[in-house]
Amino acid sequence: MKHLLSTADLSLEQAIQLLDLSDEMAMVNSREVKKLPTLRGKTVVNLFYEDSTRTRVSFELAAKRLSADLINFSAKGSSVSKGESLKDTALTLAAGGVDAFVIRHSASGAPYNLAHNGWTDVPVVNAGDGTHEHPTQGLLDAMTMRQRIHGHGNTRGKTLDGVSVAIVGDIAHSRVARSNIHLLKTLGANVTLVAPPTLMPALPSALAAQSFDLDATLSEKFDVVMMLRVQQERMNAAFFPNEREYSRNWGLTAERFARLSNKTVIMHPGPMNRGVEIDSNVADGKQSVIL
Ligand code: CP
Repeated sequence: MKHLLSTADLSLEQAIQLLDLSDEMAMVNSREVKKLPTLRGKTVVNLFYEDSTRTRVSFELAAKRLSADLINFSAKGSSVSKGESLKDTALTLAAGGVDAFVIRHSASGAPYNLAHNGWTDVPVVNAGDGTHEHPTQGLLDAMTMRQRIHGHGNTRGKTLDGVSVAIVGDIAHSRVARSNIHLLKTLGANVTLVAPPTLMPALPSALAAQSFDLDATLSEKFDVVMMLRVQQERMNAAFFPNEREYSRNWGLTAERFARLSNKTVIMHPGPMNRGVEIDSNVADGKQSVIL
């Protein structure tokens, strides 16, 4: 596998291999010296055309802990403001000798163009493209679910067979939802999407069950409830009356949380709109794995 563009490209074997490796690598974080020589002499470019906190810092940390040389390219403050294209930017950076591009872009498909248009032969990792996919977030979420459901240290080779996952909120604009839906299906989980009709995309029913009624759907049966951010910045119309109304109908409030099992894992990819899709006391509670 040269590129990581979509979780839909991963076979079950590849997904398990990546998750097993991630569990091993995560153990490096508990060592006194959190560094491995794996990428010594290699250069990684973080190509960020869209804002990010978690993903940019995670990729920076990962490159540094694997001993790579790192270039953090941010579109803001670069010659992109003078009209330089993604192709010319990538060619310019690649001319300096690059071994991997990590790209975040507001245009769905930008990582695919970078990987497959013949501009360079550098491996590409998609760090989130428009409303399309966020495969490393999907892998991180699956890794977290495996650890919580099977127990830390007991995940090797394990799938998520039969695990019940509810993904709730602005699914239409969520690249995280799309990456999770594909990967969770591959890993054998049962996914239920819950959203207002205006924020539910057309998806094959074989991928996930769908509901437009959160109160009728939330129950103790869910092993995982993943709340999604309302992505106002991608909305060009009024998809719901106002934030208060959204929270009343679609938010994970303390009252709704009380209907879940005391083992249900609460997730949210971040950044959160506290008090809109999730209440602070739920987000900061013991069952939350958001951080
Ligand atoms: N979850 C996530 O992608 O967060 P950032 O936008 O802060 O990277």
